[in-house]
Amino acid sequence: DPNRGKGVPEYYNDLISTLPSHKGWEPTLLLKYQDFWFPEYILPGIVNLQQHFKVRPSDLFLMSYPKSGTTWLKALAFATINRNRYQLANHPLLSHNPHDCIPVIDVDFASKIEGMPSPRILHSHCPFSLLPDSIKGSDCRMIYVCRDARDVMVSDWFFTNRLRRSNGVELVQFGKAFELFCEGVCYYGPIWDHVLEYWEESLRMPERVLFLKYEEMLADPAGNVKKLAEFMGCPFSPDEEKEGVVGEIVRLCSLEELKNLEVNKRSEFIMPHIKFDYGSYFRKGEVGDWRNHMSFEMALRLDGIIREKIGGSGLTL
Ligand code: A3P
Repeated sequence: DPNRGKGVPEYYNDLISTLPSHKGWEPTLLLKYQDFWFPEYILPGIVNLQQHFKVRPSDLFLMSYPKSGTTWLKALAFATINRNRYQLANHPLLSHNPHDCIPVIDVDFASKIEGMPSPRILHSHCPFSLLPDSIKGSDCRMIYVCRDARDVMVSDWFFTNRLRRSNGVELVQFGKAFELFCEGVCYYGPIWDHVLEYWEESLRMPERVLFLKYEEMLADPAGNVKKLAEFMGCPFSPDEEKEGVVGEIVRLCSLEELKNLEVNKRSEFIMPHIKFDYGSYFRKGEVGDWRNHMSFEMALRLDGIIREKIGGSGLTL
């Protein structure tokens, strides 16, 4: 691949050239690093995070496997923690994509977060085992959101094809994407190891890691927002509950509301080598959309893999 290593700081090149690579189904090559697959435009950021990230004890981390409800979690956490700071009428979430309200630390974190006032809310898709010791060994709290792997796969397929289209790369067939997903060869894959690591941490340190499920959030958004608020150290007062503040946050952060905002319909942003559009983060937001795209046999196969990999952990996906 002529683009391999292009734009990547010199000192990564030696490392990167030793890693297994795969064409995958992302628009760019995937590289396998410490048992997980990363697009080549992200991996330098992960290595940089491991080597240079300076944690603050008050940092709060929002973690997820991609396409599991990250955008929603970011919006809810941001709206909840800042509820006394902003009026609904001119709330930042109405003019900014949730990804711009809470920065991601997997890519070029330094420029975005070093000047941020504490307490910072930061986001990463990084698997737990790859996080720097400074984060793993800290008392910082983390919130992880997981989702039914079948819906994640379908969501990822739509997202990736949209990404491929905006970057002028031919689309990938569903069957091929499915095969690779089942082999764990995908963006931050395999999903089962990613989810299992955070699940185990949440069992080991429930006061540090809050483990949420996208399906449960959809079934009871208000209950989950209250859980989030308590975990973040800013529970809703009885008066706030009476005044309907929880419901306001749920409405502000709903898919319908965010999807139809100008900022989320029109804007694009560029990561090194690749162009994203904000609209691609908002699609259907439903439980069970996999039924519209996966055959029964495919679903059974993926279910079987997930059960084999995480069975016995007490977690169901
Ligand atoms: P679908 O593709 O199934 O619709 P992520 O934010 O981790 O990239 O995940 C994207 C998925 O979350 C997409 O799922 C998207 O539609 C859904 N989503 C985005 N914003 C949401 C919101 N505010 N509420 C519920 N789901 C949302």
